[in-house]
Amino acid sequence: MMSISSKITGYGHCVPSKSLTNDDLSKIVDTNDEWISTRTGIRSRYIAENETTSDLAAKAAQMALKNANISAQDIDLLVLGTITPDYTTPSAALVTAKKIGIKEGVPAFDVSAACSGFVYSLTMADNMIRLGQAKNALVIGAETLSKITDWSDRGTCVLFGDGAGAVVLQATENEDETGVLSTKIFAACDYVDNLRTNGGVSTTKQAGYITMDGKEVFKYAVNALAAGADAALSIAKLSADDVDWLLPHQANIRIIDGTAQKMGFDKSKVLTNIANHGNTSAASIPLALSQKVNDGTVKKGDIVLLTSMGAGFTWGGAVIKI
Ligand code: ACO
Repeated sequence: MMSISSKITGYGHCVPSKSLTNDDLSKIVDTNDEWISTRTGIRSRYIAENETTSDLAAKAAQMALKNANISAQDIDLLVLGTITPDYTTPSAALVTAKKIGIKEGVPAFDVSAACSGFVYSLTMADNMIRLGQAKNALVIGAETLSKITDWSDRGTCVLFGDGAGAVVLQATENEDETGVLSTKIFAACDYVDNLRTNGGVSTTKQAGYITMDGKEVFKYAVNALAAGADAALSIAKLSADDVDWLLPHQANIRIIDGTAQKMGFDKSKVLTNIANHGNTSAASIPLALSQKVNDGTVKKGDIVLLTSMGAGFTWGGAVIKI
């Protein structure tokens, strides 16, 4: 019997219109471009003023649908990784579905896994396609972290940005080995307090603001990003030498460089967009992926190794062939 797998047939992304530079930030908190760029690799980030998470998600999704040459009416599954939904309920996935015209009856849901939200969402959609429960899925990572950023805390507010990225996943029985070759996700509940908001619906009845133990997150991140990548490679029966591009979650250039070094990747094989976007959480991987596919850096046939790590802690990896 032919087995079903999923192919990525479209890529899309969207960022808010306002860009905030390090110099702009230095007028809000006691910081400077030199500190931010040397410690994090970030020079500017996009901040949503008038856009919501679902606005960004809908635009990224529409670009991915156009790129895949299919209509929203053909979509039979929508999975959206986010920790900054427009409303506590319904999900940002459903608000996005309404904006782009998804058919009645089509399942749509959010996945809350912080910066691993896209890898988790991709894992859900890929598995549902493999089980025959969907044929044409939209998988989106979208965030407006600026809304849960404490703009008086220089230790965190310099790190985050807003944006969205999306892919169209379609079922295929064609064993040409393109598409999602493997996925693997993990979590460790011992670290729930190391990186979290200082409030929430059932505690303070407010969304809260991001607080973190930056050094602890940093240390854990390099190991977790490498572990997620290694696990996905092993399931795909591939080695680092088979990989054309490493695409790690864009948290901090030093975390990215540390991961690449730990895994033996030359810097020239590592995809980054952190300088102009900062850490966009669940949006970071699909946003960079769409940019790099659309600008021709990543080409048909390339093997891309995705790896993420975020609050929870959550982490995970995926191998895709373009
Ligand atoms: N501007 C200027 N000075 C600053 C700033 C700032 N924005 N922020 C902190 N400082 C100061 C501190 O107050 C401290 O001063 P002190 O020595 O007088 O006390 C000094 O700089 C050093 O601060 P550290 O916190 O020790 O700096 P560190 O080198 O650890 O870098 C950073 C901090 C960049 C946050 C780092 O720990 C980090 O990147 N951690 C990972 C966090 C992360 O990526 N979280 C995102 C979510 S999780 C994820 O996506 C994987």
